Amino acid sequence: MTDLSQPVAQPVVGIQPDNPDAVPPPLWLLAELTYRCPLHCAFCYNPLDYTDHSRELSTAQWIDVLRDARALGAVQLGFSGGEPLVRDDVEVLVEEAHKLGFYTNLITSGVGLTDKRLDDLKAAGLDHIQLSFQDSTQQLNDFLSSTRTFDLKQRVATSIKQHGFPMVLNCVLHRYNLPHVDKIIEMALAMGAEYLELANTQYYGWAHANEAQLMPTREQLEEAEAVVARYRRTHGERCKIFFVVPDYFENRPKRCMNGWGAVFLGVAPDGAALPCHAARGLPGLVLPNVKETPLREIWYESDAFNRFRGLKWLKEPCRSCEEKERDLGGCRCQAYMLTGDAANADPVCDKSPFHESVVKIVQRAASASASTCAGTAAPREQPILFRNDANSRKLASEAREPGGSGGSGGSGAKP
Ligand code: FES
Repeated sequence: MTDLSQPVAQPVVGIQPDNPDAVPPPLWLLAELTYRCPLHCAFCYNPLDYTDHSRELSTAQWIDVLRDARALGAVQLGFSGGEPLVRDDVEVLVEEAHKLGFYTNLITSGVGLTDKRLDDLKAAGLDHIQLSFQDSTQQLNDFLSSTRTFDLKQRVATSIKQHGFPMVLNCVLHRYNLPHVDKIIEMALAMGAEYLELANTQYYGWAHANEAQLMPTREQLEEAEAVVARYRRTHGERCKIFFVVPDYFENRPKRCMNGWGAVFLGVAPDGAALPCHAARGLPGLVLPNVKETPLREIWYESDAFNRFRGLKWLKEPCRSCEEKERDLGGCRCQAYMLTGDAANADPVCDKSPFHESVVKIVQRAASASASTCAGTAAPREQPILFRNDANSRKLASEAREPGGSGGSGGSGAKP
């Protein structure tokens, strides 16, 4: 799948304000069933070296994960990937999850979502479906996913509605499609979507590798936000529109994952347990595996889930910051990617000594856009790196060479 989107009905829980170091139970389980995917999106959050982790859990192993996570307290469940529908046991897993009392969400590109599978998923108790689009135009949708899937997605959207599922359309935004936000909203309205998630690209995994190509300008974002505000006023009753702002343009970081080890428990296709979607990119973080360690022990006792939990681990300037309980130091993966140390303050924060790195990225996008408009240079000469097995294998092998980046999306400190 393509983005870091979260379920619409997200619980507002997790870290307790009066006791931020107490360990709450997980509430949201993300089951990344597979890294296999028919699409090749340039902004996919999956690790660059996903081909190194492609041995998938069996159906029985996934059922154990569902039972254990529910026993721990998880209530929301996303089936994601890759494209989860490349597995033929999604219906079995949905049925089990429904019996356990999960609220279930299928996060899909739509490829493989036939009427027969929709019938079976409905009968199994699936609660809702999030369908991704890349753009309102066939040309850009198909270019960005490196597939011809636009027409198929239109047909699937109609079928989802006919089967009576509430539908979330998701579109990841970046410099190529931000000028089309009005058309994307019109498309969602025409399809009868109850929710539209316009998620500005978060720069992890493949999106991080394509950052120079995808980063928008501040003007693009402001124009898109104004369009969204207009549609919310006129059509907000029909379709709830979410606009996830890219934090590179902010002065304070996001409270990533609502706190590390606070709400979110991800399980990767090979059984690695993830405190966040991008945790695989953090060097030195040993991810426990559900095949070897009970989920309860993983959640409460593992180093991976405790490393950045609560507030005790914070370094300066976060430790003495009066805003630390609001953002918990921001995003660990971003801190690593932009400063080389995951324990640093998220450099999105203007109190971080590394904030300049974020400012420079935003400035680079603005000057690249200006020179493109003036026809003076070709600032984005580097071709887009599409997510596919060949590129993943190449990057994984480069990362294994001495001095390699680690291969999962982190590239260490940037110049
Ligand atoms: Fe990993 Fe933010 S994406 S902590």
